[in-house]
Amino acid sequence: MDVATDQTPAGPLLALRGISKRFTGIRALDRVDLDVHAGELHVLFGENGAGKSTLINVVSGTFASDEGTMHFGGEEVRHLTPQRARAIGISPVFQEFSLVPSLTVEENLFLGREVTSGGVLHAREMRKRATALIDELGFDLDPSQRVDDLSRAHQQMAEIAKALLGRVRLLILDEPTASLTERETGRLFELIARLKNQDVGLIYVSHRMREIRALADRVTILRDGRHIRTLDAATSTDGELVELMTGRKIDLLYPTIMHKPDKVMVDVENLTLADGSVRDVNFHARAGEITGIAGLVGCGKSELIRAIYGIEPIVSGMVRIDGLPYEFPAPRRSLKHGIAYFPANRVAEGLALSRPIRENASMTVLDLPAFARFGVLRQAAERIKIQGVMEALQLRPPNIERTAGALSGGNRQKVMLGRALTRELTVFLFDEPSVGIDVGAKLEVYEFMKRLVEAGAAVIVVSSELPEVLALSKRLYVMHHGRIAAELADAEKTEQNVLASFFREHLVAEVA
Ligand SMILES: Nc1ncnc2c1ncn2[C@@H]1O[C@H](COP(=O)(O)OP(=O)(O)OP(=O)(O)O)[C@@H](O)[C@H]1O
Ligand SMILES: [Mg+2]
Repeated sequence: MDVATDQTPAGPLLALRGISKRFTGIRALDRVDLDVHAGELHVLFGENGAGKSTLINVVSGTFASDEGTMHFGGEEVRHLTPQRARAIGISPVFQEFSLVPSLTVEENLFLGREVTSGGVLHAREMRKRATALIDELGFDLDPSQRVDDLSRAHQQMAEIAKALLGRVRLLILDEPTASLTERETGRLFELIARLKNQDVGLIYVSHRMREIRALADRVTILRDGRHIRTLDAATSTDGELVELMTGRKIDLLYPTIMHKPDKVMVDVENLTLADGSVRDVNFHARAGEITGIAGLVGCGKSELIRAIYGIEPIVSGMVRIDGLPYEFPAPRRSLKHGIAYFPANRVAEGLALSRPIRENASMTVLDLPAFARFGVLRQAAERIKIQGVMEALQLRPPNIERTAGALSGGNRQKVMLGRALTRELTVFLFDEPSVGIDVGAKLEVYEFMKRLVEAGAAVIVVSSELPEVLALSKRLYVMHHGRIAAELADAEKTEQNVLASFFREHLVAEVA
């Protein structure tokens, strides 16, 4: 990646004054001021729907602001387009992915800026530059793979690589780690440190307190489209940030869950999947407790619960639900069996963006025949129920008749969560439950889980966030390379033991 070396002027790299942006019926940004200096990492912090992505879209030329001014490198910028923004060194990585799925990684990297000489495409030159960039980033990514064959973590890496191709003076990252593993997150943080040394300015959006602590120089808090305050990260506390964000005091603790382990609801015996991502796995989950599954991205933990729900083909082994064999799982039958599944990749896996939130949350998309049988009264009851669930999840704005497409990223995820919570179900499979949602909603999701298990449901939580899965689960499985590497209960359930089980597996693999 080339980093601009030109002398940065004394003033801020980016200066926004009085930026406003309206969508129909909503003031997404209301006279926002923001300064970002060269070499500074500036975090935007705010609840789902506060206006963070909208502000980023204005700075990167995707949306025109309704009012306000923008200066970049000391010069006023008007009529910004995405192309113009890139040309002056503003490089965004968006929350919703922008890659073309049917193209390869390198084709995506060079899309619109193909390396040519006299009009001839230099395939070899592009391959070389793509490989060099990916190597420098330390990502384990094959430039010749098609994007739709990549995992979400790898797609995220490709997005970041794309943003870093060319001259970068301001790098904008909108929740970049939401689908990265610990390892890639580490690489990204190293890269960020290097960029800062090279005087690149950064705007960084995250809901993860630990990241904000590790990276931020300053934090700007947005609430309801307004600039609330800009603080030095070093001298502000987590509590202060959250209070400014929500306008109220919030306890950042995990809820205390009263587990009452009861009968085995999900029993998996020698399960092996067609693609080999899960091999010979035995595990069970009881009613009345949260069973956690930890492990690095790619260890097979998501595939395992997807197979139980019926999205991944099983080649051998057995799944039992409530003691009875469940053969050939399929989503619709899973629902009938009382199993709900929350995908990690919530937007891609099933929101109808042009349909109202109410319909999306009621699962009409998945379950049309059942809905067609509803009488008018039941529809009204359904509406009230959905309204209640979405209020509890703090949907912003709280109008379930708006289209899902008009929601911010985190609010879309709440709709997906709302789906399963509007039904009577007994087994809940959560894949990365807190990705992309703000602190308030996260606590609400944890509270939901607490209510579900305490009411006797079996809850399985798959998470790459170790503190989350440690705090929530009563029993925890650790997966590694498609197998169960450890089962830890109660007091054995520590970060050290989880990490030790990875090492043990490595040693075993090397000796074998
Ligand atoms: N294309 C759109 N049409 C209508 N309203 C929109 C559109 N995009 C965003 N909004 C609204 O603007 C407000 C700000 O949304 P924005 O996406 O900026 O939030 P955010 O702070 O990025 O939230 P999150 O943490 O959930 O990503 C929200 O109320 C949202 O519903
Ligand atoms: Mg957003």
